[in-house]
Amino acid sequence: RKKYRIAVIPGDGIGKETTPEGLRVLDAAARRFGFDLELTHYDWSCETYAQTGKMMPDDGLEQLRQSDSVFLGAVGWPGVPDHVSLWGLLIPIRRGFDQYVNLRPCKLLPGATTPLANRGPKDIDFYVVRENTEGEYSSVGGRMFPGTDREFVSQQSILTRIGCDRVMKYAFELAMTRPRKKVTSATKSNGITFTMPYWDERFAEMAKNYPGVTTDQFHIDILCAHFVQHPDWFDVVVGSNLFGDILSDLGPAVAGSIGIAASANINPEKAFPSMFEPVHGSAPDIAGKWIANPIGQIWSGAMMLEHLGEKAAADAIVQTIERMLGEGGPRTRDMGGQAGTVDVGKALAEAVGKA
Ligand code: NAD
Ligand code: IPM
Ligand code: MN
Repeated sequence: RKKYRIAVIPGDGIGKETTPEGLRVLDAAARRFGFDLELTHYDWSCETYAQTGKMMPDDGLEQLRQSDSVFLGAVGWPGVPDHVSLWGLLIPIRRGFDQYVNLRPCKLLPGATTPLANRGPKDIDFYVVRENTEGEYSSVGGRMFPGTDREFVSQQSILTRIGCDRVMKYAFELAMTRPRKKVTSATKSNGITFTMPYWDERFAEMAKNYPGVTTDQFHIDILCAHFVQHPDWFDVVVGSNLFGDILSDLGPAVAGSIGIAASANINPEKAFPSMFEPVHGSAPDIAGKWIANPIGQIWSGAMMLEHLGEKAAADAIVQTIERMLGEGGPRTRDMGGQAGTVDVGKALAEAVGKA
């Protein structure tokens, strides 16, 4: 019997409410498909920061390194500046474990309502492949002459050849597994004169290796407009760290709710653990009410099982989500229902366990 070691970090806010539902469904899948999940729980969060001045212990990454995967809720809470909490926990894991692909599916599920008129499930089914270790997210820069009238801030955006090539290669390989075999690149090489022309150059170079894959590219501004007006154009969309971040909230929003959006922070070489977490944050506005949609977390759990090699179990979870929503099963308020977080988690776990 296979056993996987999972590090569980619920984090802050609704992360504490959705993570248990993710685990409930994972547990049901493990029983049915015959493998074990050995969980280690970490309470690292903004509360830890309030007590210790740190989001995680100094040897936090070494502790996580013992696991096969990390299952995370959300990080960030009022009272701790967001750049402090995120750069103290989430981002060090992404970078420390070289999780250079952030894979984020955008899919209109049957029974979910899109804000777009006249669109159905066949119109919205694509992936955002977000570069996850460099680009606009750098800590290179600073504030000079603070407090004076000459005060200024700057921050470098850094693209490396290796960094561009490896995430683009992942996007092309992913497209090769899909019927439409298309990759769209998010750029802004009209306004940003060094990094984005370089991104375009690397993209064109990578495309040469994949003659069977159709490509196109759009500047990020009009690409956002096309996500809304023509979501059916997209199959795999590759973008830099910031562009991928923006597109991966917009994509799920057009597909009905940010609450269902899943993500996988992947180190494809499996040299380090990968990390699975919903796209959404800690949602302070609804935390404590137990009304958060757990589907993004649960779907992230399915992506984790797929990464671990349990494809049948992963497929069963995703199919159960689709079936339950399609049949008008329980749904949270963001999807127009009245169910609570735990109701949806329990219903899905029960269905996954016996499907
Ligand atoms: P958010 O995703 O937490 O919330 C945005 C809006 O979406 C809110 O109205 C919220 O109620 C709603 N929402 C989010 N998830 C939902 C769910 N599962 N079900 C129903 N509604 C849901 O984004 P924000 O308000 O910009 O950020 C709040 C905090 O979370 C900040 O500290 C931010 O830095 C952090 N954050 C963390 C992550 C992460 O850990 N990966 C991601 C995004 C934001
Ligand atoms: C996400 C989040 C994070 C990001 C923030 C909280 C730093 O928005 O996972 O999409 O920008 O990567
Ligand atoms: Mn984001």
